Amino acid sequence: MKSYRSAIFSNEFSAGFPAAGKLFKNIRIVDEKTDLTGAVFVERGIISAVIPQGCPLPRGAALVVDGAALGGAPVLMPAFIDLHAHFRDPGWPAKETLESACLAAFRGGYGTVVCMANTMPVTDTFAAARALRKRAAALGLIDLYPALSLTRGMEGTSLSDITAPLPPPGENPTLLLSEDGKDVESDVVFLAALAEARRLGLPVSCHCEAPGAEDSVSAENRGVRRVIDLMRRVEGVRCHIAHVSTGAAAAMLREAKARGLALTGEAAPHHIALTAADAERLGAASRGRVNPPLRSEEDRRALIEAVRDGTIDAVATDHAPHTDADKEAGAPGFIGLETSFSVCFTELVLKAGLPLSRLSALMSAAPARILGLVDRGLIAPGLRADLTIVDLEAPAYTGPFASRGNNTPFHPPQPPAVS
Ligand code: DOR
Repeated sequence: MKSYRSAIFSNEFSAGFPAAGKLFKNIRIVDEKTDLTGAVFVERGIISAVIPQGCPLPRGAALVVDGAALGGAPVLMPAFIDLHAHFRDPGWPAKETLESACLAAFRGGYGTVVCMANTMPVTDTFAAARALRKRAAALGLIDLYPALSLTRGMEGTSLSDITAPLPPPGENPTLLLSEDGKDVESDVVFLAALAEARRLGLPVSCHCEAPGAEDSVSAENRGVRRVIDLMRRVEGVRCHIAHVSTGAAAAMLREAKARGLALTGEAAPHHIALTAADAERLGAASRGRVNPPLRSEEDRRALIEAVRDGTIDAVATDHAPHTDADKEAGAPGFIGLETSFSVCFTELVLKAGLPLSRLSALMSAAPARILGLVDRGLIAPGLRADLTIVDLEAPAYTGPFASRGNNTPFHPPQPPAVS
């Protein structure tokens, strides 16, 4: 079993900040653009100052977090933003609930999450998305933006609420559209959906598993090719490739971006860290099963190169909780919210040598840009104080998890958390 390093020391969601101010001091501060030691002052949930070490500090903070007293190697980072998680609510409370998923996200250092529309019923209306967002807001753990499906019931025939006017800013619960694991089979329907997405100004996350392909590698490669071909017919639409896992898909993404297409891509921690050999070890038809499947070492290396050269914009968990029984019966997917940072820190920073600021870009700044969230993703005055403190020296957290799912490929199975 591989071992991973770094853990979330504490996580702050701006909703919980005291009005009188909070000061983080004597701490390394890392975001996409910054890597310095100093202090961050927060007032009413908003970052009001980033202060290099040695400069005078504001007085009167209600709460002070002193990095020098925390032990380990603490780093203050922007809270992470996940573009791709499955919350299973409504629909499958034995796998996950909104409450358990939000807590898992919070404990994993996330401040903002997009949950996918493959709920039951499918999240295909703005009203349904708004209801989930409101329930999550009441928990005060993360800011949740449910994705809206492209078609009604994800049945691939008639378009969902994406044909409706976009709700006014502040009331729009949705920042990303996606048919999730089901690609829209009909080109006509898919093109109509892309045209609505362009009208709404929202990106479309494409899962890319071309129907009828002979194997999962060609399904992904053909799926990515199809998205690139179709999006060129809807000028101005923004598309995003979910969980890129093959070297060929990464190469197509690289080439499309070089041609100026408004295309972005994400990679999942498990594809960055694991291969088909791990799937075999875990049980390729059970605990090691995920869509897209764990790939060859060659694909994994190509994916890391694509992360390194900026072809891959973001890390997204594809958090997919299942019960033990469903997993044994072959349900695909892994939980990921509580392990993503330690896995990516180990693979991308410690092993592949990427700067920590690049990992911050992958987990915060880039996802914020993709979602159009201009108020977060960096540590800078005026932005929301969604912050997380990671300890780079701690052994990775290995459970028990807040998620109801226990289906992690990274650590030996743990007894479920007491509920
Ligand atoms: O393995 C997967 N399971 N991949 C996905 O993208 C969907 C997910 C699920 O919903 O279980």
